[in-house]
Amino acid sequence: MLNYNDVGDIINNNRVVKIIQENFKYMADIKKIEWEESYSVGVKIIDNQHKKFFDIINNLISVLGRRVTEGDIKEIIDGLIAYTEYHFATEEKYFKDFNFEGAAEHIKQHQLFREKVAEIQKSFGDDLPGFAFGLADLLEDWLIDHIMTMDQQYKNCFISHGLK
Ligand SMILES: [Fe+2]
Ligand SMILES: [Fe+2]
Repeated sequence: MLNYNDVGDIINNNRVVKIIQENFKYMADIKKIEWEESYSVGVKIIDNQHKKFFDIINNLISVLGRRVTEGDIKEIIDGLIAYTEYHFATEEKYFKDFNFEGAAEHIKQHQLFREKVAEIQKSFGDDLPGFAFGLADLLEDWLIDHIMTMDQQYKNCFISHGLK
C-alpha cells in the first residue's frame, strides 16, 4: 500500500521531478509524454482511450507549470478516476464477450490500479506540486507499463474477433 512516505520517495526519485529540478525556471516547459506507435494494440477504440489517458497526464503536467491549486488537481484526479472506470469497463466487456483467457489476471491488475489511485488520493497533503509530480510520474510509469505488457496480451484476441 502506498503511504505518504512512499509518495515522497516517488517524488524524490522520479524522472519528472528531476527534469523540473534541472529546469527550475522553466517549469512550464516540462516534458509531456508522447504517444508512440509501439503502444498501439491494433484496435482504434482502445488506442484512442489510451491516448486520452496521455492527455489527462499531460494536463496534470501542464497544470504544474502554472500555479497549482487544490481545485486544479482535484479536478484532474476526479477526471482520471472517471475515465479509468470507463476504460477498464470497455476492456473488461470485450474480455467477457470474447472469452479472453487472460481476463482474470488482467482484471486483477486493473483492480490494483484502482486501489493505488484511491490510496494516493488519501495522501493529498500540503505539498501540492510535489504530490502532483508524484502522481503524474506514477501514472506515466503504470500506464505505459500496463499498455506494453498487459494490454498487448489481448491484441490478437480482440483482432481475431473482428475489432480494428
Ligand atoms: Fe488499457
Ligand atoms: Fe488494461
